[in-house]
Amino acid sequence: MLDQPAPLLSHLLARQGIDSLVLESRSRDYIENRVRAGVLEQGTVNLLTEVGLGDRLLKEGIPHHGIEIRFDNQSHRIDFNELTDGKGISIYGQQEVVKDLISARIKEDGKILFEVSDVELMGIESDKPTIKFSHEGEVKQSECDFIAGCDGFHGVSRKSIPEAKRKSFSRDYPFAWLGILVEAAPSSEELIYANSEAGFALHSMRSPTITRNYIQCNPDDSFEDWSNDRIWQALHDRLEIVNDWKLEEGEILEKGITPMRSYVCETMRFGRLFLAGDAAHIVPPTGAKGMNLAISDVNYLSEAISEWYAKGSEDLIKIYPKKCLQQVWRGEHFSWYMTSLLHKFPDSTPFQQRLQRAELEYLFSSSSASKSLAENYVGYRFDQY
Ligand code: DHB
Repeated sequence: MLDQPAPLLSHLLARQGIDSLVLESRSRDYIENRVRAGVLEQGTVNLLTEVGLGDRLLKEGIPHHGIEIRFDNQSHRIDFNELTDGKGISIYGQQEVVKDLISARIKEDGKILFEVSDVELMGIESDKPTIKFSHEGEVKQSECDFIAGCDGFHGVSRKSIPEAKRKSFSRDYPFAWLGILVEAAPSSEELIYANSEAGFALHSMRSPTITRNYIQCNPDDSFEDWSNDRIWQALHDRLEIVNDWKLEEGEILEKGITPMRSYVCETMRFGRLFLAGDAAHIVPPTGAKGMNLAISDVNYLSEAISEWYAKGSEDLIKIYPKKCLQQVWRGEHFSWYMTSLLHKFPDSTPFQQRLQRAELEYLFSSSSASKSLAENYVGYRFDQY
């Protein structure tokens, strides 16, 4: 196995008595501290808790029962409690999930190698695929029954499938997100998504003293284009569009720029190689589905591999791509919907602008439209967990 969400798959397999090796290209310190999205769907929280990974998540995660959407000087609350029969989300940084997973694997003597490089996959169409890699200055080889390619969009796994056999779909968006982590108390109890005249902004949080804010920027912007003053001005302009609400400023602890892309490689299995997470699909960040989809994939994969070892049956292995893709395309649609609804598209025609307004006005007045958004935000699952 390679990279994140590999430690979760390794953990799930270990619970079924199945041995695995996780190869991680980065250092432990890097992956445990890299700031990324932080919204866990209800099903993700349930799954992590059920498999013994919920201790810190339940203590430090911040449960949320709604979000706020701002547009045209109005505010609309999506009430998850009321609209989804009590479901919700939890704000818990992705790197915190990574820390919990790695510590659980290490406690159980799970095999994880960090700072692995030069990974090559061989014999993926045979019964005994092999991974060749370098670690601590030595070239090593590991023969296995299955390879889980959880090595992100730029990893080797997807590229190891012959191009002619890969079926993929993609869409790029004409903007990116500039994200900042700030030492300040949240200015709101709930996340605020704002579609303003000047573009999109999001106010989120990580703890009672740390906030996370995002602003729509140009796709080729760099940090030099965004002084701290410009960042704060943009956040004030875009978020303070309703009366009597003020955004609290603080020290900026970290900055990052996230490109916006939708991508799906439907060839999630090739021989004994299975793709999972960002190796197979990318969503634009609006709605924070990325990690939830990766966790959904490895949950299906652990069930399929467990059944193969327990019964010698390939039934679940064969339907792995179909099960994942049903869930993935739901996440793709929702992320595209949230992105389309809330951003200012530089190339949109007056007609498209009116359509966006029509959708927002419908959302603000119809409980059915709000219910659909809420159901997807907390995580719509074709199979419950
Ligand atoms: C966060 C990220 C998102 O993409 C989102 O839609 C909501 C919250 C976050 O990092 O907190």
